[in-house]
Amino acid sequence: MISNTRIIDLTACSDDKFGSLVALEGDKSIPFQVRRVYYIYGVPGDETRGHHSHNELEQVLICVSGSVTIVVSTPGAEEEVLLDSPTKGLYIGPMVWRVMKDFSHDAVLLVLASEYFDEKDYIRGHDSYIVKAKKYFQK
Ligand code: TYD
Repeated sequence: MISNTRIIDLTACSDDKFGSLVALEGDKSIPFQVRRVYYIYGVPGDETRGHHSHNELEQVLICVSGSVTIVVSTPGAEEEVLLDSPTKGLYIGPMVWRVMKDFSHDAVLLVLASEYFDEKDYIRGHDSYIVKAKKYFQK
């Protein structure tokens, strides 16, 4: 996979009669202490979101309803990850460019984050991202 990304398989407690439950625990199934949770929904199918990277932030994305495709990339490498199950998490660490696309009408994308919201941690310009990321991944 793309550097600083990986799939996290989450375990559901499932019951034929009563349905399923997934528990997320910081420093356990989620590989960091969770400081922030947010969710994205109501995105038209022809719209995209993201188009940024983070300097430090770590996140796990889980599509708890519907489906969405996450395009993750680093300089010279790109991969599309389909999130279509509440038991599939995508970990995205620092310095990974991400674009979310192809939201289904019922998509709810849950995001767990390692830090409080901080606009200064964003890299929103793709050109400056490429310059910074090339240095970062050369380390
Ligand atoms: P942004 O991260 O750019 O969304 P996306 O990458 O999904 O397109 O955030 C969109 C707006 O929401 C932006 O004005 C910042 C604000 N925001 C918060 O106030 N707190 C948060 O935790 C997040 C993630 C965003």
